[in-house]
Amino acid sequence: MTDFLQEAKSLFTYTQSMRRDFHIHPELGFHEVRTGGIVAKELESLGLEVTKGVGKTGVVGLLEGSKPGPTILLRFDMDALPIVEDTGAEYASENHGVMHACGHDGHTAMGLTVAKILHKHRNELAGTIKFCFQPSEEGYNGEEMGGAQMMIRDGVLDGPKVDHTLSMHLWNEKPVGWVGVAKGPVMAGAEQFTIKLIGKGGHGAAPYTTIDPIMTAAHIITALQTIVSRNVAPLQSAVVSVTTVHSGTAFNVIPQEAELTGTIRTFDLDVRKKVLERFDQIVRGVAETMGCKVEINMQRVTPAVINNDEVAASVQRTARDLLPDSQLDTSSYLTMGAEDMAFMQEKVPGCYFFIGSNNKEKHLDYGHHHPKFDFDEEALIRGSALMAAAAADMLK
Ligand code: NI
Repeated sequence: MTDFLQEAKSLFTYTQSMRRDFHIHPELGFHEVRTGGIVAKELESLGLEVTKGVGKTGVVGLLEGSKPGPTILLRFDMDALPIVEDTGAEYASENHGVMHACGHDGHTAMGLTVAKILHKHRNELAGTIKFCFQPSEEGYNGEEMGGAQMMIRDGVLDGPKVDHTLSMHLWNEKPVGWVGVAKGPVMAGAEQFTIKLIGKGGHGAAPYTTIDPIMTAAHIITALQTIVSRNVAPLQSAVVSVTTVHSGTAFNVIPQEAELTGTIRTFDLDVRKKVLERFDQIVRGVAETMGCKVEINMQRVTPAVINNDEVAASVQRTARDLLPDSQLDTSSYLTMGAEDMAFMQEKVPGCYFFIGSNNKEKHLDYGHHHPKFDFDEEALIRGSALMAAAAADMLK
């Protein structure tokens, strides 16, 4: 029997050096030219059929097994974030203001490691592996859609048609050794909203001659808190967060306008519908009460990531066999974070799993998107091994 864990261990130096190289040279979404170039070169050196420019800077590599069978897409995201790194690591970012603060450098390195492992075992595979190195998971970055949607638009799920997807995230909320593989919803669906309030400006000393958009904004922010506390059932979940408030220019002027932005997160479609309805009623109702005009712009960022029961069960079986010493968590592990893999899993049954990556003793336990974020590279071994083994088991 193949020992994928041992193979991932023996490739660790390669995985680590790739990860650190990507970490030193982070690139923002849809600018992953250097990263994508290295990925393409590595995949080509294994003899894979490589296509560049799928979803702008995305790279796809095809590995054919020796027998016909289903096609499994393995997805790894490549983009960094606009954050000034503060880790002090020897491999810290040399691209000032850009940082791999979410672990996608590790994902890309693990993807290349998985390609090496599965390439070695290609004669044991009945089917095709489609390696999908995705740009711009973190947002649109000036484009009309994010990386997953753009790769789908460019046909990543067709020719050969993808039957299943597998994807993963290093997870600093949990220690190295923890692995989360759940059925059903795992990450929330996200909306982003803008509320523009138009009042009537005037002198700060004469508020009775004005319609104050700041006062109206304050009431709206407070009233929105009742959606989660009074309209969503306590055993269901939702988040409504107002995250920016902009208004005013001087201490003695009541401004004409105020603008609020924020995000809504839900798992369940009925909960989502209810939250969006209440949001609209509350914002319009309060604005009208206060005499303000209001414009609401609500945009869907991603649907929820929902794992297919059969695919998740298959990954759980693989994880039990491969990682008996790990803490395997198969309970429904939910996070309110959003992830554009949801768009692929909406179309193709898949499984998105989590690889614990913090290490408190080494002080590697800052959260994702923090300027001091870093993870224990030991996690890369488990992630590479589980992804390779899960794919191989599905193509037996
Ligand atoms: Ni991420």
